[in-house]
Amino acid sequence: MSNKPYRLAVSNQKGGVGKSTVALNIAGALGERGQNVLLVDLDPQGYLTSGVGLDDEYTTPSPNLNDALKAPGEHAVDDLVVAHEEFDVLPANIDMFSLEQELVSGMRGRERLSMLLEDVTGYDFLVVDCPPSLGLLTDNALLACENVLIPAEAEDTSIRAVELLFKQIDSLEDNFGASIQEEALVVSNVDYPLDGEQQGMLEWFDDTFSDRIPVFEIRSRAVIKRAFNAGHSIFGHDEECDQADELLRIADYFIEEQS
Ligand SMILES: Nc1ncnc2c1ncn2[C@@H]1O[C@H](COP(=O)(O)OP(=O)(O)OP(=O)(O)O)[C@@H](O)[C@H]1O
Ligand SMILES: [Mg+2]
Repeated sequence: MSNKPYRLAVSNQKGGVGKSTVALNIAGALGERGQNVLLVDLDPQGYLTSGVGLDDEYTTPSPNLNDALKAPGEHAVDDLVVAHEEFDVLPANIDMFSLEQELVSGMRGRERLSMLLEDVTGYDFLVVDCPPSLGLLTDNALLACENVLIPAEAEDTSIRAVELLFKQIDSLEDNFGASIQEEALVVSNVDYPLDGEQQGMLEWFDDTFSDRIPVFEIRSRAVIKRAFNAGHSIFGHDEECDQADELLRIADYFIEEQS
């Protein structure tokens, strides 16, 4: 195990495009491959935290991820981590709803997650689920991870969403001297048979990205939703899912990138 974990932000500011589902299942796939993973929920809405059964932690007054991002030097990630059967989890907290405002006026408001994760060891991968906005929390994730996995739906609106995300990444690179890699794109929740819009978008993703970064495709499956609602990825679930191979392909790609 290397000392410095590979950090991956799962990010797209558009809502409901599959970020939390992809983050959970990539964490599960990496775990299936024997990797030690910490799944970080940076979304104040806490869907992922709740999904993996940590509703109590979501409302735990303190100390929590909100406190840690307000004062990274005063908190150790290890004290906030909760064990899950497939991976460890750093849960979101309901108090994080007011965090963005504090980060705007605070010192190094976009680098708090970098500071907090700086000394984290004992993991091969940190996977960060981002909120659906291009606010300071997402900036924190992009700067802390510098590797981005972009989930996007096969819908026309994804073009603008991806362009805006790339613009934000460019601006962070310019302002912080960071080098943020768009590592891969996952077209999530693809529903066969394809309609014209989905077909057109799959072609657009392929034409636009596949000569630079891999474009993966996860199909829409009720079992993926059921697994999430039961508190785990499809790899910890008791039903088969035919999307396991594609998720393991994504995990293998990142294991290769890490080494
Ligand atoms: N492959 C899939 N098969 C079936 N349902 C899916 C799949 N991917 C995502 N979904 C469903 O789509 C909805 C949105 O997914 P998810 O919550 O992961 O998106 P999100 O981008 O994290 O949303 P938000 O922006 O609110 O954080 C959820 O109801 C989820 O169960
Ligand atoms: Mg989400």
